[in-house]
Amino acid sequence: MRKSFYQFMKEKSIRYYTECEDIGQDFFTSPELDSIFGYAIGEWILKLIGDYRNPAILELGAGRGTLAYDILSFLKTNHPSFFERVRYFIYDFSPKLRERQRQTLKVFEDKVDWVDELPSFSGLVLSNEFFDCFPVRLIKDGKELYLEDGKEVWLPVEDERVKEYINRLNLKDSSVVYEVCLDCVEFLQKLSKNLKEGYILTVDYGYLQQPFGGTVMGYKGHRIVKNLYSEEVFDITASVNFRALMEYGKDFGLDVIFFKNQRDFLLLSEVFKRELKNLTERQEPGNIERLSRIKTMLISMGERFKVLLQRKCSA
Ligand SMILES: C[S@@+](CC[C@H](N)C(=O)[O-])C[C@H]1O[C@@H](n2cnc3c(N)ncnc32)[C@H](O)[C@@H]1O
Repeated sequence: MRKSFYQFMKEKSIRYYTECEDIGQDFFTSPELDSIFGYAIGEWILKLIGDYRNPAILELGAGRGTLAYDILSFLKTNHPSFFERVRYFIYDFSPKLRERQRQTLKVFEDKVDWVDELPSFSGLVLSNEFFDCFPVRLIKDGKELYLEDGKEVWLPVEDERVKEYINRLNLKDSSVVYEVCLDCVEFLQKLSKNLKEGYILTVDYGYLQQPFGGTVMGYKGHRIVKNLYSEEVFDITASVNFRALMEYGKDFGLDVIFFKNQRDFLLLSEVFKRELKNLTERQEPGNIERLSRIKTMLISMGERFKVLLQRKCSA
């Protein structure tokens, strides 16, 4: 039996998130490291859509619901009138994680709606480690990777959309295996169609120029899975091609406001800097651990993770 690598990766990812009851056992994400991450995002949200009349936030792939909880807590405490006006939507296909999110967000149950289809609204679309979950096609020198009876075979690319992507992003080095994420582009198009006016804030690990060795990875128990083709259930991801999101975004009416690494993004936040200063100055138990987690957010993850802010102007 033959299937494309893309189909294989898609099935693997769906299986992982269908069975997944929690994300912490396989990998850490920034919102899980410290609430300071969500507070900084909350501050950005206020800056960007604070004056909208009926604002909404749509979070894609909400994991345990921690980021939503921290953002809503920050807004409720510091900006109660905005908190009163805002609605929070969550789009996530994992049944068990949705349940987990409902538990985390119990105190905000009147504020949050879970949606199966993308809603139409004005406001801000937010995601942390969402686009990296989409499957990619592996393309080398005009050929696409398939798996046939346990073996890798390369067959000529037939899909015109893949050919267009390769040309558009100038992926012409015949020795490189390029990762083509049409699902990322198509999802961005849907988002833009549904967003009447507002912003798309995407945080993820990714690049402008794909690293030579490729980026598809499997994670299980905080380790890299050596054999991607094993029958095990594990998280499979590919770093996000931010150049593609920016380039195709233009077609969908999305202007780039900024693209920077996570460290620079967080250090632009007054709340983040204030919390960090307080933690450093106050000698309280637990502060050293918090500081060490925040250091991870700023240093190793701070470089690897990127933040893209795009704006959709009203038609
Ligand atoms: C890597 S986790 C990140 C969770 C959270 N944003 C965080 O930072 O902790 C990916 C999340 O996206 C969801 N997800 C992955 N692929 C998806 C898809 N195609 N459609 C909807 N949700 C998806 C998963 O269920 C999970 O909640």
